[in-house]
Amino acid sequence: MNEDQPNFIVLDHPVVADLVTHIRDEQTQPPRFRELVERVGMLLAYEATRDFALQAVDVKTPMQLTQGHVLQFPVTVVPILRAGLGLAQGVMQLLPKAVMGHVGMFRDEEALVPVSYYEKLPSQISQGPVLLVDPMLATGGSAVAAIELLKSRGCSDIRFLCLIAAPEGVDRLTQAHPDVHIYTAALDQKLNEVGYIIPGLGDAGDRLYGTL
Ligand code: PRP
Ligand code: URA
Repeated sequence: MNEDQPNFIVLDHPVVADLVTHIRDEQTQPPRFRELVERVGMLLAYEATRDFALQAVDVKTPMQLTQGHVLQFPVTVVPILRAGLGLAQGVMQLLPKAVMGHVGMFRDEEALVPVSYYEKLPSQISQGPVLLVDPMLATGGSAVAAIELLKSRGCSDIRFLCLIAAPEGVDRLTQAHPDVHIYTAALDQKLNEVGYIIPGLGDAGDRLYGTL
């Protein structure tokens, strides 16, 4: 893959590298794993919201009236269930006023294609940016399908946030949806023969929720 793709952003930060290393560690148990994933979610959201539109407002401090700025458009956070929930907790910490939508999808482990089983999206979702979150971008099938769904609801500013991306998934997603910015905490080497990210962290949902 071409790592210079303008819409593909790898968080380049020592604190993120430290967090991702502890998340990868097979010794890290679900309670700690969830805590660390949540923290990376907040940092991904910080980067992904860098160019959000602002609106000028007057604000009265205890000293005087001055001008401040607030986010102009409503933000929607959409985790892809189930593993996306872990990352979304951190995103919501940064953006507590965001509305949350949910998309349920699991990957058929034989065919490696996403199977959709749930969808609940807020009615005003197309009025502002959407942060679609899922820790793993593997083949890219789940992200591509979820973005198709969001676009069918009129969303035009969609940003995909993940913990670990495989080059295969980045290529597929940028080809299918070149307008969508991808933010990841790490870009890994490849997929293995059964579609898992190498070196990766294993199965994100299982590690979050202890269903090993
Ligand atoms: C994982 C992950 C993504 C998907 C990525 O979910 O959270 O949704 O696989 O794979 P892809 O890029 O090849 O589509 P999984 O199917 O394990 O479901 P879960 O979140 O319910 O555990
Ligand atoms: N889903 C996961 O949870 N892990 C992978 O490595 C690939 C897909």
